[in-house]
Parts: sequence; structure tokens; C-alpha cells
Amino acid sequence: PPRKVIFSGIQPTGVPHLGNYLGALREWKRLQDEADPATTDLFFCIVDLHALTIPRPGKELRAARQEMLAALLALGIDPAKSTLYFQSDSKLQLTDTASVTDPVARASLKLGLFSYPVLQAADILLHRATHVPVGDDQRQHLEFARECVTNFNHTYCAYPDPNEEPSKAMTEAMLSPPEIILPSASAAKRIMSLTSPDKKMSKSDPSPKSRILLTDDAATIHKKIRGAVTDGLGPVSYDPVNRPGVANLLHIVSALDQKGRDPVTLMKEEGLEGCGMADLKDFVSDRVCEELGPIRERFEIYMRSPWDMRVEIEESAERAQKSAAKNMRLYKKVMG
Ligand code: ADP
Ligand code: NA
Repeated sequence: PPRKVIFSGIQPTGVPHLGNYLGALREWKRLQDEADPATTDLFFCIVDLHALTIPRPGKELRAARQEMLAALLALGIDPAKSTLYFQSDSKLQLTDTASVTDPVARASLKLGLFSYPVLQAADILLHRATHVPVGDDQRQHLEFARECVTNFNHTYCAYPDPNEEPSKAMTEAMLSPPEIILPSASAAKRIMSLTSPDKKMSKSDPSPKSRILLTDDAATIHKKIRGAVTDGLGPVSYDPVNRPGVANLLHIVSALDQKGRDPVTLMKEEGLEGCGMADLKDFVSDRVCEELGPIRERFEIYMRSPWDMRVEIEESAERAQKSAAKNMRLYKKVMG
């Protein structure tokens, strides 16, 4: 059977927040831990070229790249098991594969609207990914990648003359449309902002109190969660529509729960139902600290020795380059 190739990427946005972790990055680690190396390759990419669409001083991007790498290593992405690399390390005509298949009719749309999906599709094609774990918000981008694959196959891997046999290269180059891997049941679909629970937790929120960073220490975590907006509707109950702030806290502990309990079961079994907000918040803080404490410690060690970190992914980056080069040779062959 063909190898399973899992690909996912994240922008070098500095230290990830709890939403990134529970919605995406912890899933990467799970996929890594569950993968059978005999049948599966994993590619996890820090998409620093995508980041160039927002111009900023080189020094800032460098720091953000380093922080994202340190965070991924610290949360358990193991370069011996997963090909962990910077997009700029496999910079072989990255956009070419996707841009050639880009339908002209789309040109009426603003480039910025779809340059991101093109870059993403290029990475997927570059490593011939068969499976792409994405959050719900990314579904459309993957649809675009699947379209690129169909266009590529149609243009280069099928002869117009049905009597003619496709060449060996054509058969080899033929891509299979990447499938979506949706987050597991335990993954948080959407962690909301701590300060305005009607918005998702995001790095773009101007208030730093709205999000917990993977590197926040215990005191900071307690402070942020103690300050989380809830409501004045009395003791703890689970009611996502009328009590989004309380529900968000319960979603967080449910996502972190070792036993994988849903928010209501967890609330009842832990005796949180009917208790005061302060008790709920202490409970949530403790669980978040337990999860993030070891990650923070490893992160700090990595950040103290950026060079070691770079060395740690050297082989992995070479693997990414080799994979890209090999596939590009194949594509160029069929493209003439
Ligand atoms: P941000 O919203 O902070 O800009 P990104 O858009 O860079 O985050 O998202 C990176 C990854 O983290 C994506 O896979 C996205 O689905 C996931 N993610 C981001 N925010 C959340 C959240 N609040 N809850 C769950 N997953 C999230
Ligand atoms: Na975003």
C-alpha cells in the first residue's frame, strides 16, 4: 500500500497560545505518537515564507521562528520521528507546483485572498501529502489544495489520447487528493478568549490577558484565569449559549482531561457543578499549570541554546529538502 504522508504547517507567530495547542499542536503530537513509522511519514513545517506576507523587521521574524521551534520541540514534536523543518529550508520553487495549476478564472479574485492557500497547496504537493490535519477554519484551504491536485493530474498525468498509455513518470507523478484529518474528539474545536468569550482565543487579540501562552508561569496562569470573564448568573452550570465564559473554562479542562470526559461529566464528577466561580477557576488553573509546566521548562532550555535547537532539526530539514527535491524532479519531468 502507498505510504501515508501527513503534512501540517504553522506560522512562526512566536509562542503559541492554549488555543493553538489544544486545537492543533497537541494533535500533531498525538498523530506522531500514534503513527507507525513503517507506513507513515510526518512533515511538520514552520511556514516562515507565509509569514513574509506581513512585512516586519528581520530580527522580529527570527525571534518568532525560534520561539515557535522551541515550543514545538518542547511540546514533544520529535525530529527523529517527524520531519520538523522551516519552510524556507525546502525552498525549491515552492510556489511553482501550485501556481501552474491555478485556474486563470480565479485571477479576478484579489491575490492576497488566495496566495496563502496556494503556498499551502504547494507544501502539500511538494511532499505529496496524503493526509492533512486541519482545524475547522482551514477546511476551505484544503479544498483548494485538492483542486490543485486534480488540475495537476489532469494537465500532466493524463494523455489527451485515451489510446496512449501514460508513461511511468506520469503514473508516478499522479497525486492523490489529500484527505482532511479532523481533530480528535478530545481536541478543542475552539477555545474562546478569556476576556471576551464570544471571540476565539487568538494571537491577534490586543489584550494579552485574553490568552494563555504555552510559556506562562503558574502565577501568570492563575492570574489570567482568575481574571477570566464569566457572568453573574450564580454557581457553576454548563450552558454554552447563556454562559459562554463558564462553558469555555469547562471546555478547557475537558480538553485537558486525562480521562477524556466531556464538560458535563467532568463538571459533575469533579464536584464543580453548583460551586463558586473561584473554585472552578482554581481547578482550571491547576490543570492548565500541570499541562504547561513541563512544556515551559523545556521551552526555556531550548531558548537558552538556539544553536543546539537548530542542530537538533538539521537532519530533519535535510529530509524535507530531499523529499522536496525528489518530488520536484518528478514534477519537472512530467511538465516537460
Ligand atoms: P490565531 O487565531 O491565534 O491567529 P492561527 O490562525 O495562527 O491562530 O492558528 C494556528 C492553528 O491553531 C490553526 O490550526 C487553528 O485552527 C488553531 N487555533 C487557533 N486558535 C484557536 C482556538 N482559539 N481554539 C482552537 N484552535 C485554535
Ligand atoms: Na488567525
